[in-house]
This record gives sequence, C-alpha cells and structure tokens, in this order.
Amino acid sequence: MSAANPTPSGGLKSQLSELLPIDWEMLRHAGAEPVPFHLKKWWFCLGGTPMMLFIVQVITGVMLTFYYVPSPDHAYASVSTITHEIRFGWFIRSLHMWSSNFMIVAVILHMLRVYFTRAYRYPRQLNWMIGFMLLGITMTFGFTGYSLVYEQLSYWGATVATNLANAVPIVGPMVAFFMRGGPEVGAATLTRFYMLHIGVLPLAAMVMISAHVLLIRLHGVTELQFEGEKPSTDEDRFFRFWPEHVTTELLIGVLLMYILTILSLILPASLGAPADPTTTPAHIKPEWYFYWDFRLLKLTSLKLSVLLTGAIGGIAFFWPFIDGWLEKKFKRGVDRIVVAVGVLAFLGFLVLTVWEASAH
Ligand code: HEM
Repeated sequence: MSAANPTPSGGLKSQLSELLPIDWEMLRHAGAEPVPFHLKKWWFCLGGTPMMLFIVQVITGVMLTFYYVPSPDHAYASVSTITHEIRFGWFIRSLHMWSSNFMIVAVILHMLRVYFTRAYRYPRQLNWMIGFMLLGITMTFGFTGYSLVYEQLSYWGATVATNLANAVPIVGPMVAFFMRGGPEVGAATLTRFYMLHIGVLPLAAMVMISAHVLLIRLHGVTELQFEGEKPSTDEDRFFRFWPEHVTTELLIGVLLMYILTILSLILPASLGAPADPTTTPAHIKPEWYFYWDFRLLKLTSLKLSVLLTGAIGGIAFFWPFIDGWLEKKFKRGVDRIVVAVGVLAFLGFLVLTVWEASAH
C-alpha cells in the first residue's frame, strides 16, 4: 500500500507558493519599506559596495582554488601556471587582486562616512564593533592571500607579520607559533593561511555581514536630514529599499565591474621572484593598507609599535562609547572634537602610508 500522493493544484504562482510556503506578501512589504532619501547619495551606498566585492572575491577565489596548490614546493609554480598557461587565468587572478584592494578602500570609506555622520551612536554601538571586526577580517583576507602567492615579498611579509604578533605581550609567542605552525614560516604556515583564506575567513565574513545587515534592518539606517531634503516618508518622493535603493546599488555594482575589468586589462596581477627563505630581500613591503603600521614599526621599536597598534585598534573599536563619554563631558562641543579626532587620525594614516610608499 502506498501513501496518497498529493497532486499540485492551481497555476504556476500558487504551485510555487506551495513548494515554498513563505508569506510572500509579507516579504514584498518588508522589501518595499521606505529608506531615508540620503541613501540616494553614493557615499551612503558604500556599505553595499564591499558586499558586492565580497561576492566577486568568492566567485573568482573559488576559480583560483581549482589550480592553486598550497605547498611551498608548488604554490609559486601553480600561481605561475594560472598566470601564464591557464586560459583567462591571468584575468581571474587580476580581478581577484583588484577587487580585494577595492574592498579595502570601500570598507575604509564606508567607515569614514559612518564616523563623520556619527551613525555609530546609541543604539548602533554594537554594529560599529561588528563593522570593525569586518575591517579586520577584510585586512586578514588581504594579508593571507598575499602570502599564498609565495613570492619573495609575500614570504618575508608573512615573516615580519608573525614577528609582530610574537611581540604582543603575554599571548604573542603563542599566537605567532600558532600562525606559523612552528618556529618559522614554512609548509605548515602556508596550509594554515590557506585554510584561513578559503575556509575560516569567508565563513566569519558571511556570519558577520549577516549580523551587520540584520542589525541595520532592525535599527534602520540613521535618519539624517540634509538641507533642502524632504522627510523620507514624503509621499511624492517615495524612496523604497526595493526597487529604488537596490537599483542604485546594482548600478554601482555594474560600474565597479567595468572599472575592475579595465584595471585588470591595463594592470594585470604581476608575479615577483619565488620565495627564498635563505635570502632576505633588501626592501620588504607589505600590502599598502599595512604601510602605516610598517612605518610605525620603523619609526619606533617592535614592542612599542605593537603596543601603539593595539591602542589605536582598541580606541577605534570602543569609539562609540568614548564618544558617549565625550558627549556627556563636552555637550554640544563634542561634534568639533569628533571631527578633529577623525581628521587627525585619517591624516596620520595618509601621511604614514605615503611616507612608506615613497621609501625605497
Ligand atoms: C565587509 C565590510 C562591511 C560591509 C559589507 C558593511 C555593510 C553595511 C551596509 C550595507 C550598511 C547600510 C548603510 C550603508 O550602506 O552605508 C552599513 C551600515 C553601517 N555600518 Fe557597515 N559594513 C562593513 C564594514 C563596516 C565597518 C568597518 C564599520 C565601522 C567600523 C561599519 C559600521 C557600520 C554602521 C555603524 C552602520 C549603520 C550606519 C547608519 O545607521 O547610518 N561597517 N554597513
């Protein structure tokens, strides 16, 4: 005897809603919620930009894993094969490289806009902290990816980074040993960085981006009233999440793909000399977004630069609470203090970065 087999009823639409018994009307309603008009401005879409670039990274990254071999003997040769022999390998690799750099720039710009609009204040402190962790994840993506190439600079970059980790008080030596998988950068380091790059970090990024977006959804985007702008709920100028805001984001996505393609064609990813653990290169250079820290290291000592980096990171992470304390103390004058701190911090970052970039 067999169980009665229910047969589909009605047209395609009702069949679909039987296959996926979701409240579509509620979803449609939630998607069409009005969002503040200032989201029309591109710098308010800078949060969606790293999200789109992350998707580009996942797609191109998966393609690269088809040919990449994470062992010191084969890593460099496999990247060389991807670049010179695999059809369009150079293009996928270049897209991955350019998109990673764009993602870092987009996250920094997004963070600046959130900072200067003070959108991190109550009740969004937690989301600032989640965002800050996303910045850390994005930079660790870049660092581990750079190390995977296993060229001279990436090898020695990893050596400097693990030495920095080693100088962190108390837990440093343990963290450095864990990163390297031994006393020096070698085969175990490469497999660890590979696992981080293709497994742990993507998962962490997905979880954190979901939490970030969920909180944005729960709190709503900060309402800012710009001069001459009508309130967002104004019927004549209805601006909804779907389709108006999503279309703006998609247009930015198309423009980004266009720029990434052009850059990949004009300036494709290069390949330096293979890693040689016995010869330290004359000039070690990390990726540009670590220049400021590398310059700090050169200007101070290993221990002091690690302490300064930790202090800067700590202040940035807990900034919404420091802002709250400043507001209580200085009342209306707090705006000027926040702007001054932001401008000084960003100028400091720029000066150290340009200084390091121009050093030979
Ligand atoms: C992969 C990295 C990130 C992604 C994908 C992301 C995504 C987003 C998106 C889509 C928004 C909505 C508004 C907008 O687009 O500006 C947003 C808002 C926000 N983000 Fe991020 N973000 C990232 C990193 C960061 C960082 C590094 C910070 C700060 C340290 C941050 C803090 C915030 C805060 C506080 C809001 C709420 C702003 C408001 O209410 O106006 N995010 N984020």
